[in-house]
Amino acid sequence: MVATRPSWAPEGVDMEVPSPARMYDALLGGSHNFEVDRRAAAGASRLVPDLPKVALSNRAFLRRSVRFLADMGIRQFLDIGSGIPTVGNAHEVAQRAAPESRVLYVDIDPVAVAHSEAILAGNERASAIEGDLRSPSELLADPRVRSAIDLGKPVGLLLVAVLHLLPDADRPHEVVATLRDELPVGSYIVISHLSSASRPEAAAQLGDQARNQSGVPIIFRPRDEISTFFNGLTVIDPGVVELPLWRPESEADIDEEPGRSLGLAGVGRKDSPTS
Ligand SMILES: C[S@@+](CC[C@H](N)C(=O)[O-])C[C@H]1O[C@@H](n2cnc3c(N)ncnc32)[C@H](O)[C@@H]1O
Repeated sequence: MVATRPSWAPEGVDMEVPSPARMYDALLGGSHNFEVDRRAAAGASRLVPDLPKVALSNRAFLRRSVRFLADMGIRQFLDIGSGIPTVGNAHEVAQRAAPESRVLYVDIDPVAVAHSEAILAGNERASAIEGDLRSPSELLADPRVRSAIDLGKPVGLLLVAVLHLLPDADRPHEVVATLRDELPVGSYIVISHLSSASRPEAAAQLGDQARNQSGVPIIFRPRDEISTFFNGLTVIDPGVVELPLWRPESEADIDEEPGRSLGLAGVGRKDSPTS
C-alpha cells in the first residue's frame, strides 16, 4: 500500500526511504516521521535498547551548551544539521537567556526545514534554510546566512549529532577546519558525535545495521578522531567527554552511566586567527 503524504511533509519527499532527521525524531518520540523511519529506529533500538536515551542525552547536551554560550556572551547561533524541531530548540534556549539572540537553522532535509519554518513563523530573529554542511565555504557565503549571521562578531556554531553522518569520503575534519578558519575569533564550536570509545560492540552492531539495513551510514568514530575536530581551538572544561558528563546541571542529566551514552561531546573556542 502506498502511504499518504501527511500535510507537514513537503511534496517530493520519498516516504519509502528513511532519513536521519526523521529516524532521530522517531527515537525522540516525535511525530514528524514515516513508517519507514519508525521501522529503522525500532530496528536500531532492538540492538541497543537505550538508544532513545542516547538521543535524549544528546538533546540535553545541546541545551546546556547553548546556555553556556549565551552565558559567555554569544548572541548569534548557526545550527547546522539542526534536525526536526523538538522540545528545547537552540532558539528557545538562546532567546530565553537573551531575547536579542539570532539563530539560523540549516539542514539538508526538507522535512526538517519545512517544520522549522512553521514553528519559527513570527520569530524575527530565528529562521531555517536548506543547506549542505559538506560545502562549508559556499554555505557561509550564502546571502541567507550573511543576512542572519554577522561574521564580524563571534558565532556559536552547533554541529550537534551531524558529523557522524559524514563518512570519511566527505572529509568531515576539513569541513570543520574550514568553518573554524572562516569564523571570527571569539566564536565557539559545539560538537557531539556518536563514538565507538565506550561501547565498541554496540557501536559496531549499530554501524552495521545502519549501513546494511536502513541505508543511512552512521560513522562511530574513536575518541582521538573526535578530539581532532577541536584542533586549533581551546577546548572548554571538562574537555571531550561522554554526553552526560559535559557540565551536567541536574541529576536528570547524569541519570545514566557515562560510558553508556555512546556519544562524545565538547565545546571549543577560537582564541586566535588561523592562517
Ligand atoms: C541526528 S540529527 C541531529 C539534530 C540536532 N542537531 C540534534 O542534535 O538534536 C542530524 C541532522 O543532520 C542533518 N544532516 C545530515 N547531513 C547533513 C548535511 N550534509 N548538511 C546539513 N545537514 C545534514 C540530518 O538531516 C539531520 O536532521
